[in-house]
Amino acid sequence: MSAPLPKTPDWFDRQPLDRWLRERGHDVFADSVAKVCAERLYQPTNGDLKRWITALDELPAPSDRSLWYSDGKVRVIGPAVDSIGLRDTLMAFHPWRKGPFEFLDLSIDTEWRSDWKWDRIADAVDWQNKSVIDVGCGNGYYGWRMLGAGASFVLGLDPILRFLMQFEVFNRYAPQPRRHFVVPMIDTDLPEKLAAFDIALSAGVLYHRTSPIDHLRSLAGALVPGGKLVLETLVIQGASPQVLVPEDRYAQMRNVWFLPTITMLERWLRRTGFEAIETIDVTPTTTDEQRSTDWMTFQSLADFLDPSDSRNTVEGYPAPLRATLTATRPDL
Ligand SMILES: C[S@@+](CC[C@H](N)C(=O)[O-])C[C@H]1O[C@@H](n2cnc3c(N)ncnc32)[C@H](O)[C@@H]1O
Repeated sequence: MSAPLPKTPDWFDRQPLDRWLRERGHDVFADSVAKVCAERLYQPTNGDLKRWITALDELPAPSDRSLWYSDGKVRVIGPAVDSIGLRDTLMAFHPWRKGPFEFLDLSIDTEWRSDWKWDRIADAVDWQNKSVIDVGCGNGYYGWRMLGAGASFVLGLDPILRFLMQFEVFNRYAPQPRRHFVVPMIDTDLPEKLAAFDIALSAGVLYHRTSPIDHLRSLAGALVPGGKLVLETLVIQGASPQVLVPEDRYAQMRNVWFLPTITMLERWLRRTGFEAIETIDVTPTTTDEQRSTDWMTFQSLADFLDPSDSRNTVEGYPAPLRATLTATRPDL
């Protein structure tokens, strides 16, 4: 018999996630999810967390409103409220980076047109009735899109509590039973041989990891045999297997470590046991896709590119280019 679950705030209902994991025999992982959630979400002295919980309580009642995600948008629909007050409440969660979302009559114009990235991965795999783990999910935007594309269950991992609270803003309007969860965990929290999910998504995470090989191994370990990986990351141009390790910052980001060529990325995938590797998209990130908005008022991509030559970052490296690859964990 398993131990009683540690206390977490009432609004964070993870019982259906716990049940989903235990029904499939993943009790050890279910215990560790419960423990990490309890530790990270029950922090009575964390001022930001208190502010976000207060803001969640100020949102319009979920009883006669609902979240829709089946028609290419993620939106809360239902009776309107004072939109100035609603905007102020939602701005407690600023900066809004991933989206867009609609909330009653407000459009949350996020820093990223994540819907464009979604369009690049939407046909990468068949989402119908699949369970998905989204490692580095941010506020869970893609998870809603995956459910809209037919996925049966989505677990997102992200260490940033602000993004997890943005997820909760929408999650409270989601249809029952809940099929989408975001927990404050990272790739290294995944057990080596979890083998629980049909699909793993890693988008915009690999280059933040000091060990890309370990990141790929953790994704392989999360997949059932025959499961599919969708990997999106920054790459550099070049035909040979090479990798750029920035001397210091890359596009002003301190935590960018490895930008491989696609041939190097494919080699990493082979070395970590993946098969049927395919590059399905390569797209430069433009200042239309990533930009400052009213909902993300800090600097954005335009400020991080060389003003005299936008083909380079301010540090003189090639400007962001993103590749999406799919691969399969072998059926052992
Ligand atoms: C550039 S954002 C990408 C978000 C989203 N996947 C997308 O493609 O739009 C990277 C995200 O990964 C999260 N992250 C960073 N290190 C991580 C790790 N080791 N495991 C899981 N998530 C991580 C960050 O908190 C951040 O939300």
